[in-house]
Amino acid sequence: MRKAYTCVCLAMILLPATASAGAVESLLQQYQRQGAGDFNPIRGKKLWEARHMQSKLGKPVSCASCHTTDLTRPGQHLRTGKHIEPMSPAVNPSRLMDAKKVEKWFRRNCRWTWGRVCTPQEKGDLLMFIRQSNPGGKKK
Ligand code: HEC
Repeated sequence: MRKAYTCVCLAMILLPATASAGAVESLLQQYQRQGAGDFNPIRGKKLWEARHMQSKLGKPVSCASCHTTDLTRPGQHLRTGKHIEPMSPAVNPSRLMDAKKVEKWFRRNCRWTWGRVCTPQEKGDLLMFIRQSNPGGKKK
């Protein structure tokens, strides 16, 4: 896995014009400096769909409860019913562009959904999963 990740990094350096990495690469590097290992989108997908008991709601919830399991589609806020734009950068180019925004929402959403902050490892796995999501991208 480390090899694959290094390749991604190299591709980003070699293809700056085509790669719209947004905030992802710098966040992944930051998470590794904080002790995370290699990142894996399949683990990210499992985390995304894993249900945890939400104590105030009294029901199990996951990231997909608001953002759905198909990230190329819009979501809906579980409590307020508000429309949420699709999470996939493939259909919503404004996603994962701003590291501060990503961190802010990780902090909020991990606390609310899981009852605790996400670890750097988990955040990296989730980012890999979100970044890779694309229309019809069921092959993973
Ligand atoms: C209760 C509903 C809800 C749940 C559950 C939820 N989110 Fe969110 N999430 C939101 C809202 C609302 C926003 C901010 C509005 C927007 O960006 O569309 C947001 C924004 C985000 C963003 C910002 C992305 C960007 O660059 O714009 C990320 C990343 C994110 N959520 C990840 C997660 C993860 C990971 C989980 C599970 C641990 C999760 N969310 C669970 C409602 C939710």
